[in-house]
Amino acid sequence: MSKAIQTVQRKASLTYSLFDPAPCNFPVSRVPLLPCLRGGAGISDAKNASFELVGRNRVSRLYTRGRYALYEAYRLCGVGPESGLLAPAYHCRTMLDPAISLDARVSLYPLSLSLAPDLSKIEGYLSTLQQRPRAMLLTHYFGFPQDAAKVKAFCDRHGMALIEDCSHALFNHREAPQLGQHGRYTIASPYKLLPCEEGGLLIAADGQDFDPRHPKRPGLVTEIKTLATALARIGHDRKRRIRQADIDLLPEAVTHLQSRKLARGIELSSRQPQVSSLYLQAEASMAGSIASRLLIKISSLPQAVAKRRENYLAWHRNMQNLPHCKPLFTALPDGCAPYMFPLLIDFPQDHFYALKTMGMPIWRWDDMAWSSCSTAQKYRQHLLHLPCHQSLSEAEMRWMMSAVTLVMTRIPQRGNS
Ligand SMILES: Cc1ncc(COP(=O)(O)O)c(C=O)c1O
Repeated sequence: MSKAIQTVQRKASLTYSLFDPAPCNFPVSRVPLLPCLRGGAGISDAKNASFELVGRNRVSRLYTRGRYALYEAYRLCGVGPESGLLAPAYHCRTMLDPAISLDARVSLYPLSLSLAPDLSKIEGYLSTLQQRPRAMLLTHYFGFPQDAAKVKAFCDRHGMALIEDCSHALFNHREAPQLGQHGRYTIASPYKLLPCEEGGLLIAADGQDFDPRHPKRPGLVTEIKTLATALARIGHDRKRRIRQADIDLLPEAVTHLQSRKLARGIELSSRQPQVSSLYLQAEASMAGSIASRLLIKISSLPQAVAKRRENYLAWHRNMQNLPHCKPLFTALPDGCAPYMFPLLIDFPQDHFYALKTMGMPIWRWDDMAWSSCSTAQKYRQHLLHLPCHQSLSEAEMRWMMSAVTLVMTRIPQRGNS
C-alpha cells in the first residue's frame, strides 16, 4: 500500500488526534466567527446581482447542516459497507462522520501545501487496490476554487463519483461560475456564509435521478426555536461589540500575557468507532427551517462578497510582513468570495494560546483522523482560520489585526514549533 495514503480499514480503525482545551479556560471569543444579523445586513437586489448561490439553477434540498447533505450525497453515490470514500487528509470530523454513519471505509488522500489533492500520489495508491472507493470528496477550502475539472477527469478515469464540498464556498460569479460545476453532487453550508442559523444544501448535477422534495420537514416548535435562537444571538452579539477602548487596551493585555504562564491543553489520541458528537442521527434527514430558507433567499450576495474580499485583503496586507506567521494563500483570485482568512503560524504553543486567551475568534481543525499527509499533520496545529465575514465592524477588524500583530511581535517564541 502506498505510504502516502492512510487507509482506514473500516471505521473501527480510525485513529484521531484530539486537542482538549479544557485546562486552558479560554474565554468566549470577543468577535463572532460567523456572520450574524446586524444593522447593515444587506437585502438582495436580484436585478443587480453579479453573484448567485452555488447550484442556483439545479435541483437541491435544504438540510439543517452540510454534514447531513453529505450523508445523502455519499449514499446516493453508493458509499457504504462494501464501497469506500476518498476524503481529504485535512478535514474536520463532520466531513467523515456521514461516511462512518454509512459504515463505509474511509481513505484519506494527501494534499499539497496549498491544499490541492496530490493526484499522482492518489493514482499510485488506487493502483494497489482491488476495490476502488466509490466517491471522492473535493473540498474548496476557505472558498478558494479547486481545479474541479481536472479532478473530475481523474475520478472518471478511476470510476469514482466526484462530490464537491462547497461548505466554505457559496457564491458563484454569474458570468464565470467555478463552484459545483463538476460534482455529481455538491454540498454547501449557507449558515457559514450568510446570517442564518442553519442550512445545508445538497445539489444534484443535471441528469441525476434526484427528488428535491424533502422527506422530513421541521415542526412548528422547531421553526420557532430556530427563530428564537437567531434573535437571541442578535442580543448576545450586541453585548460583546468591540469598541475603541478595547483596541486601546490591547498593548497592556499583551504585556500582561508576556509575564504569565498559560495553562496548556491536552493532546490525545483516540480510536473512536462511532461518529463524533457533532453528528446527530436524529437531525440527519431533517429539512432546514423556513427562517433559514428565507434569509438565504433575501441576503445580498454581492454585498457579502464585496465585504468578505475587503476584509480578507485587509488581513493579508496586515499579516504578510509579520514575523512567525504567513497567509496560507499568496493571492485572492478574482471572483473568489473567501470564507475565512487562513493564517499559518510557526509557534502555536506560544501564539495560539496567547491569542485564544485574549478572546480571539479562531477555528482550528485540531480534532482530525491521523494520516501520513505531512500538510494535514502540520496544519492541524499551525493553521488558524480567522473570520473575514460581512458582519464584522471596522473596529472588530482593527481589534483582531492589532491583537495578532502584537502577539506575533511581542510574545516571545520558545522554539517549540
Ligand atoms: C470543509 C467542510 N466540509 C463540510 C463540513 C460540514 O458542514 P456543516 O458544518 O454544514 O455540517 C464542514 C464543517 O465545518 C467543513 O468545514
